[in-house]
Amino acid sequence: MKLCVAFDVASYDDCLHLAKELKGLDIWIKVGLRSYLRDGVKLLEAIKKIDDFKIFLDLKLYDIPNTMADACEELAKLNVDMFNIHASAGKSAMCTIMDRLSALEKRPLVLAVSALTSFDEQEFFSLYRQDIKQAVKEFSKISYESGLDGMVCSVYESLLIKENTDSKFITLTPGIRPFKEKSDDQKRVADIQCAKENLSDFIVVGRPIYKAKEPRKVCEDILEHLK
Ligand code: C5P
Repeated sequence: MKLCVAFDVASYDDCLHLAKELKGLDIWIKVGLRSYLRDGVKLLEAIKKIDDFKIFLDLKLYDIPNTMADACEELAKLNVDMFNIHASAGKSAMCTIMDRLSALEKRPLVLAVSALTSFDEQEFFSLYRQDIKQAVKEFSKISYESGLDGMVCSVYESLLIKENTDSKFITLTPGIRPFKEKSDDQKRVADIQCAKENLSDFIVVGRPIYKAKEPRKVCEDILEHLK
C-alpha cells in the first residue's frame, strides 16, 4: 500500500515547501484542482525537480467522449504518473479515452472516480437513486471493461471492487484519517488498519498532513504503519 499526499495548499510556495520537507520519503504526491488551476504545469515540473516523486494529477475529468479523450491525450504528455476521470462519464467515454491513449508509447495510469468520499448514503441516494455499493459495483464493472487501471473509492468499497473485477485492479482511497483525526467534510472515513484490511492500494491523506505542525513526522508515522 502506498501513501499519496494531497497538496491542496494555498500557494505555489507552500507546495514547494511541502515537497522539500517530504523529500526522500516513499510517497506519491497528489496535485488537485486548487494547486493545478493556480500553478499549472510549472508546479508539476518543480515538484519533479525536488525529488523523483510520482505525481497523481487529480482533476476528475467529466465531459463528452471526444472532449475527454482530447484532454486525456494532453494530460498524458505532462509527465504525470496517474490521473483520473469520473466513471459516470460512461463506458463510451472511457473506451474512447483508453483507445486514444493506447496509441502513445507510454501512458499514465488512469483511474475512475466512483462515489466521492464526501457523500453519505442519503446524499448519494438523493442524486443517483442507488445505494453507494450498488453504484460502485456498476461503475467498477464498466471501468474495468473499458481497460482502466483502477478506481477512486472509499475504503469500504475497495474489496467489493476487487471481487467484482480483478485483485490487481487498483483501489485508491481518500477519506483516510490515519490516527482518528477529525473528518472535516469527509463522510466515509477510515484509518490505516481499515485500509489495510480492505486491500487499498493507495491511501490519500491531505489535511492531516499538510495542516500538521510537522508534516514530515506525520508522513513518517503513516509510512511506519504501512509496513
Ligand atoms: O484533506 P483530505 O485528506 O480530506 O483530502 C482528500 C483529498 O482527496 C482531497 O484532495 C480530495 O479532493 C480528494 N478526493 C476525495 N474523494 C474522492 C476523490 C478525491 O476526497 N472521491
